[in-house]
Amino acid sequence: MNHSRYSSVAITLHWLIALIIIGNIIGGLALDTFLDSADPAMKMTGFKIIQLHKAFGLTVIGLSVLRLLWRLANPAPALPAHMTPLEVLLAKATHLGFYALMLLLPLSGWAMVSTSAKRFPISYFGLFDVPYLPLGQSKALGGLMHESHELLGYGAIVLIALHVAAALKHHYFDRDDVLARMLPLVRKRG
Ligand code: HEM
Ligand code: HEM
Repeated sequence: MNHSRYSSVAITLHWLIALIIIGNIIGGLALDTFLDSADPAMKMTGFKIIQLHKAFGLTVIGLSVLRLLWRLANPAPALPAHMTPLEVLLAKATHLGFYALMLLLPLSGWAMVSTSAKRFPISYFGLFDVPYLPLGQSKALGGLMHESHELLGYGAIVLIALHVAAALKHHYFDRDDVLARMLPLVRKRG
């Protein structure tokens, strides 16, 4: 079956996940400034940010599993016919990369804190504590997961930049409906 636009479920999940990931990248990168501060109020804010970072990050795992299942059951609309084979390949690779990142980025964070000797509880927005992954405490694995989390975070920034540039190119240069079908607030360019 060929659809001409994304369903409202796909659109809602896309923007919800995008918002959380972008917020978590900003929060993750800003964290050290708060935690390294001599000001106790700044430090406390840093602890609050990291709690929210973990809870929002874990939410991305749940939303991404839902999104992946929805996507498997509901194929994406066909890409515009004007795209070259290289552009189609780049678009598909970016989207596939995003699906991998949406799962691996939060999973690496969860694995990092699960292997840490500091047993800070992972509070899910104060509602309940999320269990650690059963990996055992390990400095080596924790270090590897920390590196992976950081690298995947930088990878996400690169993919987002490419993705946004592509979306704007479709809208302003190609004047097709690629942005409009994911962002119904904007209208297809005439
Ligand atoms: C969408 C999900 C997530 C994104 C985009 C994200 C992104 C980031 C980024 C960019 C950093 C800064 C990396 C650095 O410069 O060192 C960071 C740090 C961190 N993240 Fe995440 N993260 C996510 C999910 C999680 C989850 C689920 C957890 C744990 C349950 C977690 C735990 C941490 C911790 C503890 C740090 C601080 C590491 C340190 O000590 O420097 N993250 N995250
Ligand atoms: C962390 C941020 C983001 C992630 C992880 C993400 C991920 C994705 C993924 C995986 C798809 C493919 C959907 C599918 O076919 O299943 C997609 C499509 C799309 N995204 Fe994003 N996105 C992000 C941010 C953005 C932003 C900021 C924009 C707008 C400037 C945007 C615009 C679009 C558009 C227009 C499509 C539709 C492409 C098409 O129809 O083929 N995305 N996004």
